[in-house]
Amino acid sequence: MKTLFSATILSIFLTVSCNSEIEPLYKDKNAPVEDRISDLVQRMTFDEKVLQLNQYLAGENTNVNNIGESTKDMPAGIGSLIYFNSDPEVRNLIQKKAMEESRLGIPILFGFDVIHGYRTIYPISLGVAASWNPELLKKACGVAAKEACLSGIDWTFSPMIDVASDPRWGRVAEGYGEDSYTNSVFGVAAVKGYQGESLSDPYSIAACLKHYIGYGRSEGGRDYRYSDISRQSLWETYMPPYHACVKAGAATLMSGFNDISGVPATANHYTLTEVLKKQWQHDGFVVSDWEAVDQLIAQGVAKDRKEAGLKAFKAGVEMDMKDNIYLENFKQLVDEDKLSISEIDDAVSRILRVKFRLGLFDEPYTKVVPESARYLQPQDKKVAEQLVEESIVLLKNEASTLPFSASVKKVALIGPMAKDKENLIGAWPAKGDCKDVESISEGFEKEFGTRIKVSYALGCDFEGDDESGFSEAISIAKKSDIVVVCIGEKNGWSGENATRSTIALPTIQEQLVVNLKKAGKPIVLVLTNGRPLELVRLEPLVDAIVELWQPGVAGGSPLAGILSGRVNPSAKLAITFPLTTGQIPTYYNMRQCARPFSKMGDYQDISTEPLYWFGHGLSYTTYQYGTAKLSASQITREQKLTVDVTVSNTGKMDGKETVLWYISDPACSISRPIKELKFFEKKEIKAGEKTVYTFEIDPLKDLSYPDETGKYFLEQGDFYVHVGDQKLKFELIK
Ligand code: BGC
Repeated sequence: MKTLFSATILSIFLTVSCNSEIEPLYKDKNAPVEDRISDLVQRMTFDEKVLQLNQYLAGENTNVNNIGESTKDMPAGIGSLIYFNSDPEVRNLIQKKAMEESRLGIPILFGFDVIHGYRTIYPISLGVAASWNPELLKKACGVAAKEACLSGIDWTFSPMIDVASDPRWGRVAEGYGEDSYTNSVFGVAAVKGYQGESLSDPYSIAACLKHYIGYGRSEGGRDYRYSDISRQSLWETYMPPYHACVKAGAATLMSGFNDISGVPATANHYTLTEVLKKQWQHDGFVVSDWEAVDQLIAQGVAKDRKEAGLKAFKAGVEMDMKDNIYLENFKQLVDEDKLSISEIDDAVSRILRVKFRLGLFDEPYTKVVPESARYLQPQDKKVAEQLVEESIVLLKNEASTLPFSASVKKVALIGPMAKDKENLIGAWPAKGDCKDVESISEGFEKEFGTRIKVSYALGCDFEGDDESGFSEAISIAKKSDIVVVCIGEKNGWSGENATRSTIALPTIQEQLVVNLKKAGKPIVLVLTNGRPLELVRLEPLVDAIVELWQPGVAGGSPLAGILSGRVNPSAKLAITFPLTTGQIPTYYNMRQCARPFSKMGDYQDISTEPLYWFGHGLSYTTYQYGTAKLSASQITREQKLTVDVTVSNTGKMDGKETVLWYISDPACSISRPIKELKFFEKKEIKAGEKTVYTFEIDPLKDLSYPDETGKYFLEQGDFYVHVGDQKLKFELIK
C-alpha cells in the first residue's frame, strides 16, 4: 500500500512537472495555424484580448496630416504599432518587451505607410498605372517590402485601390486611376509584390487594401467627405478591385473616412461584414483609418466615443487605429451585453491569424543589417528607373520635336522643377530622402555630357507673382536650339488632404511659358504633378508635352533618356486629362446618354471633349493595327471567344506597345458604360517587326454585369469588342 501510494504520488508529480515543461500549442511552429489561434485565444484574459484590438504609435510621425503624436509608453500586450522609425534595433527592443513582459508573449505587428517605395522611392501610383506594366510594380513592391522589413516593418498600409475620376481630390496620386479593372490588376500586383509567395517568407510584409470603400468618390474632390454611391456603382466600380485583391490573398483592409450614402465606411455592416467577411470569406482583419472610429461622432452617426466604438466594431472593424476607443469602452459594453465575448474572440483571432501567418510568433525580431545593405541597392534602383521610363507619358509631339534631333546642340533648361529634388520625390515618400533623388538637371548632365550644352535658369518659383526671373530665362532660351521648361506641382499639393478647387497650375508658371514663347524656339513642356492638370492655355504654346508625374528617386536619367531618344516612351494615361476644371467629372467609361450624336447637352462655351483621354500616350515609332479577327461571331455563355490583332512597328525605333481591349453592350437591362476596359497587354515590338495580341473573352467574366446586390448577370444579344479604332460585333446567343 505504501509503495502503491508512493508510486501514485510520483506519477502525479511526474505528470504535473512534465506538463509544466510542455510548450503551449500556440508556440509550436509545426502546429496548424488555426489550432495555434484557438489555443492562444482560450488562454487570454479579457484585457489581453482587447489590447490586441488596438493600434498605438511609436516613433516620429512624418505624415503631416497626422502630426502631433510621439512615442508613447505602450503596454507590452498591444496588438499593433504604427512604427514611424526605421531602426530595426528599436523595433526589436519594443518587440522584446512584448515577447518577454506580456504574460503570453504575443508579438506586436508593426505597420507603416509604404506607399510608393520605402527608401528606394518609385513613381506615384498614378504614374505607375500609366506604365501598364504590373509585373514591374510587383517587383518594385517586392523591393519596398524588403527595405521595410529590414527596417522593422511587418505591414504596409498599401495599396490604395480607390477608383477616382475627380482630379481635384489630392489622393488621385495614390491610386491607379479612373478605371476599376486597372485598379484591380495593379492592386493585385502590389499585393503579390508585398506579400511574396507566402506571408512567412523572410522579406514579405502584409498588405492593407485601402480605403474600403468608395473614398475616391468624395464629393467635389473634397477629402474626408460624403460620397454618394448607389449600390449599382458600388458593385460595378468600387468593389471589383477589392474583390480581386481579397482573392489574391490581401491580409488586411483599412476602412475609409467617407460615408457611403449616409452610412460611414467605418460603420458599414453591409460592406465590412456582409460582403467582405461573409460573401468573400476574408479571414484577415480590418483596421480603421486614423481616428476614423472617433470621427463617427463628427459624421453624425454616434453620440459619443462609446457608441462610435460599438458601431465600428459591430460593423466589422477589428482594429482601432490610434484612438483608444476599444480599450476604453469594451469592458463596459460587454457588461451591458452589447458586445459578446465570442465577437471579441473572432476579432482577436483574425488579428492573431495575420501574425501567425507572418511568422511573427516564431521569428519576432528583425534581422539587423547595416543601412548600406538595406537601402537603394543598385538592382533595386534599376527597378525604380525602369518604372519611371515606362511611366513617362508623351502627351504631345508636334512635328517630331522629340527626340532631340542631331542639330540640337544647346538646350535651355528652365523652370522651378529643373533642379528640384524635394518635389520630384513625390507625395508621401515613406522614408525617402531628397538627397537620393536624381534631379532633372543631373539626369541631363549624365545623358548629354559635353555633347549638348545645357544652360539653366529658374524662371520663377512654383507660386507667387515674382516675374523677375523671366528675362534671364528668355535670354537663355533665345541662345538655345530648344527650350525644356520644367514646371508642375509641389509634392504637398497632391496626396492626402490636398484638394484643389482648380487643376490649373498657378498663373506664374503659366506666365513663364507665355514669356518663353517670345524666344521663338521650340518648347518642350515637362510636367511633374500628382493629378491631371488643366493644360488648356499651355498646350497651344508648346511643341511637345512630357508627363513625368512625381517620379521618386530616379527621375532625371529616364526623362533625359526620353528626350534624347535613348528610351522610346511607351506609357499611356490611366486617367483622363479634362480640358478645364469645369469638365470634371470626365472619364472614359461614362454611361451611354440620351443624345450621343447631337451636340445638344454639350458645354456651350468650350469643347466637351477632354484634352487627353484615358489611354492616350504617344511613341517615337508608329504602330499599325491590322484588321482584328474574332474566332466566331456567335458564342454561348459556356464558350470563349478569342480576338486577335496584329500590331506592326512601322517606324524606325524599337518600342513597347500596350493594347487596350474594351467591351461594350449597346442594349442591356441596365444601361452599360460607353465601353469598359477588360484586358490589356504590353509587348515589345522591334522596328519593322510585328506581333499578335490576343484577348480571350470569357462571357462570365467579361460580358456580365452586377446588379445592386452584387449578383452577376449575363444577357443575350449583341456586344462589341473595341481595339485601337476598331469595333467588332459579336453575339451571345444563350
Ligand atoms: C490615411 C491613411 C493612412 C493612415 C496612417 C490616414 O490619415 O488616410 O491612408 O494609412 O493615415 O498613416
